Amino acid sequence: MANMFMALEIVLDLLLRVCDWTGDAEPPPLVNVTVHASTILAIILWNVAGEGGHPIIDFTAQYRSAMPVNGTLEAWKPISPNHISPNSRQIDVYHLEPNASYWFRVWANNVLGPGPPVEVLATTLYSDQEAELYKHFLEGAETFDTRTWVAAVCVVMGTLAVLAAGTCAVLCREWRRSGEPRP
Ligand SMILES: *[C@@H]1O[C@H](CO)[C@@H](O)[C@H](O)[C@H]1NC(C)=O
Ligand SMILES: *[C@@H]1O[C@H](CO)[C@@H](O)[C@H](O)[C@H]1NC(C)=O
Ligand SMILES: *[C@@H]1O[C@H](CO)[C@@H](O)[C@H](O)[C@H]1NC(C)=O
Repeated sequence: MANMFMALEIVLDLLLRVCDWTGDAEPPPLVNVTVHASTILAIILWNVAGEGGHPIIDFTAQYRSAMPVNGTLEAWKPISPNHISPNSRQIDVYHLEPNASYWFRVWANNVLGPGPPVEVLATTLYSDQEAELYKHFLEGAETFDTRTWVAAVCVVMGTLAVLAAGTCAVLCREWRRSGEPRP
């Protein structure tokens, strides 16, 4: 039994050596990996420096917040699509928080498996405009008075009632006039 395992190990070792010799491997790490972040979306860009002896099947990219929660970083989140076309050199990431730091990572896969991931840290922009809008909205909500609302609704309803009454009156007159004998 022990001999069989030893034989197997030797065969495996030989196979690995042959693979090394033919340059059979997972893809090497991607190069020029950069992230351009706006307020709530980011674009990951990369270049390919080699394939590892087998064509690249696809790329995979993930991200996670760089802010530890309770001392640990959150789990990596997938970036859609999970299998990025081998012709792609970029991917968009949506639904990020403004003014927040994220780790992004991307790697290439070939038939032997995934290559080493390359990680890039990026921080989304802080939008003054959005924040100002939001502040105004909140301020508006604070000073919001139900009486103003009721008054506005009354004015609108009143206008509609007057319009409806006017239309009715005109229609009634037309109808009565058409009913009268012609001169
Ligand atoms: C990486 O970027 C440099 C500078 O833009 C460029 O010259 C080089 O070709 C890129 N590498 C690859 C593998 O595309
Ligand atoms: C952090 O840890 C505390 C105590 O262990 C727990 O109550 C809390 O829910 C944790 N917060 C998060 C965001 O996981
Ligand atoms: C952006 O984030 C940093 C770090 O979390 C914080 O110190 C800063 O106050 C934030 N800026 C704004 C404008 O919210």
